[in-house]
Amino acid sequence: MHKLVESKMIVPNIFLLTLEAPAVAREVKPGQFVILRVEEDGERIPLSVADWDRVKGTITIVLMNVGYTTDKLASLKAGASIPTVVGPLGNPTEIDKFGTVLCLGGCYGMGSLFPIVRGLKEKGNRVVAVLEARSSYLFYWEKKFEEISDRVFYITRDGSRGYPGHVGRLPEIIKFSGESVDRMIINGCTFLLKRGSDVSRESGIKTIVSLNPIMIDGTGMCGVCRVTVGSSTKFACVDGPDFDGHQVDWKELLQRRKMYLEEEIVPLRTSRCEEHKKESR
Ligand code: FES
Repeated sequence: MHKLVESKMIVPNIFLLTLEAPAVAREVKPGQFVILRVEEDGERIPLSVADWDRVKGTITIVLMNVGYTTDKLASLKAGASIPTVVGPLGNPTEIDKFGTVLCLGGCYGMGSLFPIVRGLKEKGNRVVAVLEARSSYLFYWEKKFEEISDRVFYITRDGSRGYPGHVGRLPEIIKFSGESVDRMIINGCTFLLKRGSDVSRESGIKTIVSLNPIMIDGTGMCGVCRVTVGSSTKFACVDGPDFDGHQVDWKELLQRRKMYLEEEIVPLRTSRCEEHKKESR
């Protein structure tokens, strides 16, 4: 069993969990993920590791509450235990001396982007972080990013902080910054990964995205995480999760991610109704 050391909502619908997982904490590297089960016979969900403490043997994950299992996870309090934490899984993000790296993160992806930025800085890169959200109140860890990045830019859909709009503002931000970007790394929802890759394709900046397809075993056995990259079929869990964003078949990935939407959402609604019924008895 893995004890939850900390559990809190950091911005609406985004939760931070720190849990005991010494074997994972010992080995994990930026860009890797774990597979969790909240119940013995529950659904397995992949979650990127956002930070770790090798001495204390803990890992931190940032997740968005989107369905039955994430809702269960988000509702757990510190002191509760989780039966399964498998990892670290997937290949670490390539961290090398690239020059200037633009790191784009949104939603839960700001969490998993943080150790990548830290690793890139430790390697001597210049790092420009760009954080994207619907509104200013949805940003978190800004101080942490500002402390370790060379520059941080913000984009908000409603214009409440930084550049108004969406990731389509990137070329403008790059131009304004005067930076010559050698590589771009994107963490976040599939939509952000796709839009970021579309934007950088025009400027020819090599772009690495951390894919987040549905997964079951996370070890290359089930084929559920299948994605098409270039002309090849890849398994995101063992071949990725990082891939060249300009080579990913986004249409296929977006369709596959929606495959079990009903199964994720309906039990969430039903379980909440059951809880309400119990409370009103
Ligand atoms: Fe089963 Fe990747 S999750 S092959």
